[in-house]
Amino acid sequence: MLIDSFLANKVGTDEQFLSAALVKGLRENIQVLQEKNFLVKAGIGNQLVKDKQQQMRSDTIYWLDKKHQNIFEEEFLHQIEDLIEYLNKTCYTGINSYEFHYAVYAPGTFYKRHKDQFQNNRERKFSLISYLNKDWLESDGGKLITYQQDEGQSILPESGSAVFFKSEETEHEVTIANRSRLSITGWLKQV
Ligand code: OGA
Ligand code: MN
Repeated sequence: MLIDSFLANKVGTDEQFLSAALVKGLRENIQVLQEKNFLVKAGIGNQLVKDKQQQMRSDTIYWLDKKHQNIFEEEFLHQIEDLIEYLNKTCYTGINSYEFHYAVYAPGTFYKRHKDQFQNNRERKFSLISYLNKDWLESDGGKLITYQQDEGQSILPESGSAVFFKSEETEHEVTIANRSRLSITGWLKQV
């Protein structure tokens, strides 16, 4: 399970974090968002630090929100709330907030090596990325590479799988995707 493998390896992975039905629902949500042109170019950091030329990252995003009253978004966020409850109970992590967005990497896009915690805001404690891509091949690119002392671990963004790590510690990057790459990325926070 995600947390056990995080405790053992600092980068937790779970091949079956989301059910096939939930993955399907979330993928369909992204399709609708794309049709409505709701996805926006992602920035980096918060208002004070912006990546105007998209040199660091070139994906597009859309934030999840319970106000959307979408059953799949709600199911996803409930699953996150259960995970937070488990984490707080077993690891005394004191997480009291979260934020998640859909992310679409169109062919040719990437996110260069970075950490997820902002220098002027330390609220993000854990990063959790869930993938929605069927039959992702090595040749499709778009790998997540996590670094521990410059040793990289490659993770393919395969349907239903998830990755979990400490936002202030683990540097990571997304290599150039050769095919459209869908995910939900977010953070467990202490605010
Ligand atoms: C991010 C990020 C990794 C991924 O959005 O901060 O690093 O695999 N995403 O999508
Ligand atoms: Mn990141």
